Amino acid sequence: MTTTAVKDHPLFKPFKLGSIELKNRIVLAPLTRNRASAGNVPNASNVTYYRQRSTAGLIISEATQISPQGVGYPNTPGIHTDEQVAGWKGVVKGVHEEGGKIFLQLWHVGRISHSSLQPDGALPVAPSAVKPHEGMAMTYEGMKEFETPRALELSEIPGIVADYRRAAERALEAGFDGIEVHAANGYLLDQFLRDGSNKRTDAYGGAIENRCRLVLEVLQAVLEVWPADKVGIRISPSGTFNSMSDSNPEALFTFLLEKLNSHKLAYVHVVEVNEADLRHGGRKVDTEVLRKAYHGNLMVCGDYTAERAIQAVDSKLAELVAFGRLYIANPDLPQRLQLGAELNTPDVNTFYGGTDKGYIDYPTLSEQAASV
Ligand SMILES: Cc1cc2nc3c(=O)[nH]c(=O)nc-3n(C[C@H](O)[C@H](O)[C@H](O)COP(=O)(O)O)c2cc1C
Repeated sequence: MTTTAVKDHPLFKPFKLGSIELKNRIVLAPLTRNRASAGNVPNASNVTYYRQRSTAGLIISEATQISPQGVGYPNTPGIHTDEQVAGWKGVVKGVHEEGGKIFLQLWHVGRISHSSLQPDGALPVAPSAVKPHEGMAMTYEGMKEFETPRALELSEIPGIVADYRRAAERALEAGFDGIEVHAANGYLLDQFLRDGSNKRTDAYGGAIENRCRLVLEVLQAVLEVWPADKVGIRISPSGTFNSMSDSNPEALFTFLLEKLNSHKLAYVHVVEVNEADLRHGGRKVDTEVLRKAYHGNLMVCGDYTAERAIQAVDSKLAELVAFGRLYIANPDLPQRLQLGAELNTPDVNTFYGGTDKGYIDYPTLSEQAASV
């Protein structure tokens, strides 16, 4: 493609997402950075980080706990206390002042927690008492062995749905432009979806329809708070992260997407297969198959470059493209992609936790030019 054709591509042009006008089709993927303050409250550095990345058409916040039970990592933000809502108000204000839009990603980690992070030192909860077979829990005392989680009682499930609804209400109060239900990457909702982690024999386990029940109930609950065109959902059909597996992911996710069609959501966000998934024996679900099943806006994420993003939009595989690691290192990513400019390299050592180094000190093109 010529430089002019890239520069003028619809990827870099405004896009109408339901009733929201985005300045381009490039999305900041949700990225946990473990830099919230005590009480899991967003702080001034978090405001700067998101403000810097308001170059995206849409920002999706880092995963944010809906409840104390939903916590799975140190220093990750929540949306279940007044202090957290106040912290998020600062982030939203900063993004809006830069002309950006921001959705909050709603998170419950399920079994990917540790009793040291749970209220009263309780065991983490999950659909079933199945311990993740790989990885370790990240705690305030360092990495620890995962524990076998406690299977949620049937009578506790309405309480989980209510926690999502309450978090959605608080997100509205904080001024967000929308919310994304995190049903990807091996956390609670994904644990219910897949038969590798869901061994229940009640209405929430077994048949695909049953395993999709909790996700659909959560969506129903948040849709009583938010209009559908301001609600997205994230799924990772091919993902193996956090010990995920399923006997027939294509059937599972096709079923779910067909159900989602009727909701007319803002978008469905698909985390595409990556090398680690394939190494772990993950069964690849082609995004083309998902595209056929889903009739609304599709957002894709995973190893995208400018070239692949342009291809995805041109081929109508997706309406929106999210960038994760490249956006960590390049706050002005859309401009750099549009100009074909060189990209800063993300420093993996500062991804999770630490100071402002590797967080809010990546330079923009103009800052780099000024320092020469
Ligand atoms: C540091 C880091 C933190 C992440 N945190 C989240 C998160 O909070 N929620 C989520 O859904 N995905 C999370 N992901 C996955 C990313 O959103 C994205 O799917 C992944 O990085 C692949 O996109 P990329 O190749 O453009 O980086 C995280 C990834 C990284 C590298």
